[in-house]
Amino acid sequence: MWIIILCPAMLAFAPPAATLGGAACGAARVHLAMVCEQPAPTRRTAFQLAGALGVAAATGALDRQAALAAPPAAAAAAAAPKRKLSEYQKAAVEIKQLVKADPNKGPTLVRLAWHSSGTYDKAQRDGGSGPGTIRFKEELAHGANAGLGAAVGWLEPIKRKHPKLSYADLFTLAGVVSIVQMGGPAVPWKSGRVDGKPAQVTPDGRLPAADKGAPKATAAALRQTFGRMGFNDQEIVALSGAHALGRCHPDASGYAGPWTPTPTLLTTAYYSLLLNEKWTPKKWDGPLQYEERSGKLMMLPSDLTLVQDARFAKYVRLYAKDSKRFYADFSAAFAKLLELGAEGLTPTSYV
Ligand code: HEM
Repeated sequence: MWIIILCPAMLAFAPPAATLGGAACGAARVHLAMVCEQPAPTRRTAFQLAGALGVAAATGALDRQAALAAPPAAAAAAAAPKRKLSEYQKAAVEIKQLVKADPNKGPTLVRLAWHSSGTYDKAQRDGGSGPGTIRFKEELAHGANAGLGAAVGWLEPIKRKHPKLSYADLFTLAGVVSIVQMGGPAVPWKSGRVDGKPAQVTPDGRLPAADKGAPKATAAALRQTFGRMGFNDQEIVALSGAHALGRCHPDASGYAGPWTPTPTLLTTAYYSLLLNEKWTPKKWDGPLQYEERSGKLMMLPSDLTLVQDARFAKYVRLYAKDSKRFYADFSAAFAKLLELGAEGLTPTSYV
């Protein structure tokens, strides 16, 4: 938390303490600290954007009094006892460095963790993060995994340095470390996944479709796909908030562009934009996707489904106005996702 007072820009851009009330939450503070680690233009943009969009998560919840009362960094560092890091913590430091060096890798690592877990079938009790099969060419060849081979490659040097860590643990660890690194909540994480064999790769088609031709069909398919993993409507909407991050790549999915103007910060901007912007079909040669007035941001048909379907939309409205609730629900759902198909896990600290 002390990082906050090292950043004069934060105090300059932070809203007055009176407007913040008691809404301070740890995740938002991590978020603000992360903003300070960005180069100055990014920092300005994040706060300006937050003002423009009214995104509570990006500006709100800063307990300025607490920040000012925090100990100076040098004193805190001197007072902190030297601790021996576990292999998981060492790997987490290296993942953090990877994302710091290239923030655009953060969203892709979150996607890798999600796709390595989202193949789970609760009825058949197969798939999921347990055996780490997304590293195999058979699974990377699945249509939805286009582009994720690169992310597996980024983690190879870390795997080589920490051979006792399974790939399956490493992929999920990379997801939670990236979430924190991008200002999201701490996600409880468990270790102990045991790498499997190519024979455990599940059939292609288990990940959600971005478009089933009509909003009702797309919504039904989302419920069917996430229901197969064991998720309900609220969890589907909470998890989809990850689309605040990253972008679509024409050479991967065929879709193009980011969902939000701050693709390396996990905020509630995805929900605010879904509700407040007018989304129209993009005129182009590519697959159906939607754009707002400026044409710079995009939504997939499956994203828009979340406001077209009343049962989903109530959670979009909830998370748009309550970032604390979003962080809590996202953390719980993402932790659950990363444990699908994995047995005998142990709660493990990675910070
Ligand atoms: C609801 C159903 C979902 C659909 C149809 C969907 C579809 C997509 C598509 C088409 C892309 C673009 C990939 C590319 O071109 O590189 C993407 C990116 C992404 N998705 Fe999803 N997704 C869904 C749910 C989720 C969930 C549950 C998460 C995480 C909890 C997630 C996290 C991400 C992230 C972080 C990216 C950006 C990756 C990057 O920048 O490289 N998505 N998604």
